[in-house]
Amino acid sequence: MNIAVFASGNGSNFEALVRAVKKRRIKAKISVLIIDKKNAFARIRAKKLGIKTIFVDPRLFKSALAFDKELLRLMRAEKIELILLAGYMRMLTPYFVRRYKNKIINIHPALLPAFKGTNAIERAFYHGCKITGVTVHFVDEKMDHGPIILQEPFIIKDSIDLAELESKIHKLEHALYPKVLELIVNKQLRIKGRKVFIRNKTGL
Ligand code: GRF
Repeated sequence: MNIAVFASGNGSNFEALVRAVKKRRIKAKISVLIIDKKNAFARIRAKKLGIKTIFVDPRLFKSALAFDKELLRLMRAEKIELILLAGYMRMLTPYFVRRYKNKIINIHPALLPAFKGTNAIERAFYHGCKITGVTVHFVDEKMDHGPIILQEPFIIKDSIDLAELESKIHKLEHALYPKVLELIVNKQLRIKGRKVFIRNKTGL
């Protein structure tokens, strides 16, 4: 399975995915990293990991649609079958989503549908949540909304501070995202409405 990762910033999830593919021999090839920010740290990680980066500059396009049409052209040129969003800070247009229906995945650092959008870890922390976590889901036309594949909860003890919580959540992300990738590559997921059913490997 030929995969593209989209990122805008740090890229720790991108790196975790690349390393997991190699370590666990997942039958997938992360062949390209797409970034919309020239100086995204993900780009440096990609270089180290030997993965091609393509920077698409949003300022060169007159609309979100024009930008996404260029992304689509790249996806087709690279023969991409699955797209993993990993800290990609831009909403994909319905035009793009429809053309990669159920083939775009996102990771979110909270238990959706709580704390959609940016700064989710911080917002859950200051909201006084006792439990938060990580969600991996299919991408649909609305933000942080598509069918949920897996979630991992995390209990927020009174003694934990925000920095610690952030690092714990990222650690969970780095384990959960590759797990989902493996399920997809092994064709273990079935979507029915909002529900995602997971078959075990033997199909039982
Ligand atoms: C992660 O917390 C992810 O859940 C969210 O953006 C963050 C990206 O982090 N969508 P990184 O760039 O992968 O380090």
